[in-house]
Order: sequence, then structure tokens, then C-alpha cells
Amino acid sequence: MLLQAENVSKIYTSGKGGASHQALDQFNLHVKRGEFVGIMGPSGSGKSTLLHILAMIDKPSAGTVKIDGVNMKALSRKEVALFRRKRLGFIFQDFNLLDTLNVKENILLPLVLESVDKAEMERRLQELTGILGIQDILLKRTYEISGGQQQRTAAARALIHNPELILADEPTGNLDSKSATSLMTALEALNREQERSILMVTHDPFAASYCSRIVFIRDGKPYTEIYRGEKRQAFFQKILDVLSMLGGAYDDLSSAPPQK
Ligand SMILES: Nc1ncnc2c1ncn2[C@@H]1O[C@H](COP(=O)(O)OP(=O)(O)OP(=O)(O)O)[C@@H](O)[C@H]1O
Ligand SMILES: [Mg+2]
Repeated sequence: MLLQAENVSKIYTSGKGGASHQALDQFNLHVKRGEFVGIMGPSGSGKSTLLHILAMIDKPSAGTVKIDGVNMKALSRKEVALFRRKRLGFIFQDFNLLDTLNVKENILLPLVLESVDKAEMERRLQELTGILGIQDILLKRTYEISGGQQQRTAAARALIHNPELILADEPTGNLDSKSATSLMTALEALNREQERSILMVTHDPFAASYCSRIVFIRDGKPYTEIYRGEKRQAFFQKILDVLSMLGGAYDDLSSAPPQK
């Protein structure tokens, strides 16, 4: 098992004697190597809280998280930083690209800290940018490319060091539907062709339909989970069905039906 989150709870307390809020309630999540898992749920259900805990940005109030058998609680702050840098990849809604660098330099940035030889660096760069469809813009500056291309650049940067687990929070949140489609197609290809393990939080049922499994969360607890069969279109419908049972504000339910 690549990721094991057992009985993870998170209670936020605000200020002195302020109200406390239980964002996660004994949440369990297991992810196998090579899975592409989506996390969906209404606003405020605890999705980002869960992702932040798994990403080691935040600590759980109770429960344990193990990634590749390593218990996060057993690591020092330094070890956590090293673990995140070497073994996790992050794709967030804000691309966080550096506009003083070109696309290629942005992607290779995480490797600058490592001792990877140049030929190997170049090989990984070619392979990844090929899958992501950004091989022709490597020398452009980040303000010269589209939002979708920026997001795929950020994805390449998140993957260049071969992380064992990719964590993504609303990766299509800032993208138009064409860019969202190409990002999701690319993530699906990375998952299938390179067996990259991906955990993605999303509001978007279309983006979610590219996952192999979706875990729905409500009020900090698992609600249900569904698996994708062969057909993405049918999975998309299934996702919509669960979301309508789940309730909450799904303002983007009216988004375009999947192409293909
Ligand atoms: N730092 C914080 N301090 C206090 N309460 C918080 C904090 N972060 C989140 N919460 C609360 O915890 C609950 C879960 O928040 P979380 O951000 O995980 O939801 P979410 O599922 O990601 O929602 P959204 O879909 O809107 O992004 C919410 O009720 C939120 O108000
Ligand atoms: Mg969130």
C-alpha cells in the first residue's frame, strides 16, 4: 500500500476559547501504487484539510499517515522537508511558476538541488514534456504561454523528480475547458503509461471522470466510493448521480459534458 491514512481527525480551534470545528472525523484512506484517486465532496467537507495533512503541510489532531510505510509522525521537520521534496509531487491551483525563468528552467528547478546527471535530466524532460504536450514551448517565458500551458508546466515540474505520489488540489480550477481536458488527458497518460500514483481533489465532475476511483467525502467522513470501468462517459454520469445525492453547492454541474 502506497498511502495509508488511518483514523485521521482534524479539529480546528480558533482563538482563545473560540469555537472548534471538526473538519475530519476518523477518516480512513488507502491508496495503492499506480492508482489515480479523486476526492470529491461539498464545499467545507474537508477535502483540502485532508490533502494538506497528506502533503504534510498540516498535522492531524489524531490518527496516522503512512506513505510507503513511513509514518509521518516519526519524522523530524528536516526529514519531512526532505521527504516532501524527494518523494511527493504537488500540483495546486496556483501555478507558482517563476516568471524570471523560462518553461524548461521552471521544470528543472527541483532537480537543481539533486545530483542528477545532465543526460538523465534531459531524458526525463523530453519524456514528460512530450506526454504533456509542451515540448515546443520550453524556451518561452511563463508570461508568454497560456494558462493551460502554465498548468502543464507546473505538472511537469511536479513530476520531474519521479515522485512516488502526486497530490493535486483543484488542478483544473483555473483552466478553461480545453486546457482542463488536455491536463486531465496528460495526467491519465502519466498514470497509465508510467504508473504514477495520483491523488486529486476536485469539484469538477469532468476532471474527476479521468480518475480510476473516486472517494466522496461529507462532513469530514467518507460518504461512498465508486470505481471507473472502461467507459469514461458512463463514469461521468455515475459521478453526477452521486453528487446529486450528496447535496451541497455544485455550481459547476452545468459544465460541458465530456468530449469523446
Ligand atoms: N485554518 C482553519 N481554521 C479553522 N477552520 C478551518 C481552517 N481550514 C478549514 N477550516 C474549516 O474546516 C472545514 C473543512 O475545510 P476544507 O478547506 O478542508 O474544505 P474543502 O472541502 O476543501 O472545501 P472547498 O471545496 O470549499 O475547498 C470547513 O468548515 C472550514 O471552514
Ligand atoms: Mg478546498
